[in-house]
Amino acid sequence: MNPRVEGQQTAATPAVNSGARVISVGGGKGGVGKSFMVANLATCLARAGYRVIVVDCDLEGANLHTVVGAHAPVSSLADFVAQRVDDLGKLVFDTPIEGLQLIAGTHANLSDAQPTHLRRVRLMRALRRLQADFVILDLGAGVHSAVLDYFLVADDGLVVCSPEPTSVENAYTFLRAAFYRRMRLAMVGHGVRKLVTTAMDQRNEHGLRTPLDLLREIEAIDSADGARFVQTMREFRPRVVINNVRTAEDIKLGFAVCSVCRKYFGIDAEYLGYVNQDDDVRLSVASRKPLVEYRPKSDASIYLQRIARKLAGGRPSSFQAAAPNRVASPSGAPTPAAGSPTA
Ligand SMILES: Nc1ncnc2c1ncn2[C@@H]1O[C@H](COP(=O)(O)OP(=O)(O)O)[C@@H](O)[C@H]1O
Ligand SMILES: [Mg+2]
Repeated sequence: MNPRVEGQQTAATPAVNSGARVISVGGGKGGVGKSFMVANLATCLARAGYRVIVVDCDLEGANLHTVVGAHAPVSSLADFVAQRVDDLGKLVFDTPIEGLQLIAGTHANLSDAQPTHLRRVRLMRALRRLQADFVILDLGAGVHSAVLDYFLVADDGLVVCSPEPTSVENAYTFLRAAFYRRMRLAMVGHGVRKLVTTAMDQRNEHGLRTPLDLLREIEAIDSADGARFVQTMREFRPRVVINNVRTAEDIKLGFAVCSVCRKYFGIDAEYLGYVNQDDDVRLSVASRKPLVEYRPKSDASIYLQRIARKLAGGRPSSFQAAAPNRVASPSGAPTPAAGSPTA
């Protein structure tokens, strides 16, 4: 892997689009395949002609560089967090995959791995200005406010979940926490914000159990905040991916997760796709190649390509001109039903 020695974001490089599309990959639990998903979806998009930068935001468990087959770079996001580097572009390194670059998360000071709120705001602005078509964030586990903010800043928030009760439980916890954080940030009135904070505690004494309970209370206090609440609720559309699927029941889990989100949390989640459990993943990591490169014709690779195409489908038409038709028909294109919960 070669560092981009000519100053990474060279002024001479024309920007194809006005801002990178930011995709966050989270899910609450460790080990469910977030980094696997980031590396493979990014590779699919890069192979389809898009310029992609993956960012390892998991400073406490940084390993995305290994999953994309790169060596640990000399500098990383940790330098931005610690304010040693101000220009995020200087932390972008090439990977062995053409069109795919990396901001690693290595060498963090683990006693202070999360950025302050101000630093986070700066980071989010800088991410969008990176010269790429897609910037894909690999989030850490848990529901730390920094993790939630990385998720909320994205144009697309993906929640990766495995067909295990613990993973499903953590996915709900993560989505719920992200939802309430987003709501609190959207509210203007001090009293209303306090109410949202109260509702975050599932056993709160106000009896606020669902977002609709909360909405009723908010509307009674401030109708403008009530309208903002409804609007923000509509805009919150996380996308669920089930990884490590083995059975037909596992595939159906995605529908169940989305339906629970709608029924109990008022969250309109979308089931984006699934990827099967594949023993070759281990071998692909050992050979320092994403699975879609190591076994491009495998079922799991085909499902990953399908998810990547759905993600790319959201790009504006000016962007599509930069990669004509390539995302619509990558090599090894799946049959229409493969990997798609909706097909
Ligand atoms: N679909 C899959 N089939 C087989 N192994 C997988 C699959 N997805 C992920 N893994 C393996 O599971 C482990 C955890 O994945 P990782 O992406 O590191 O999880 P996370 O980033 O959520 O902590 C890794 O060893 C990875 O190679
Ligand atoms: Mg990871």
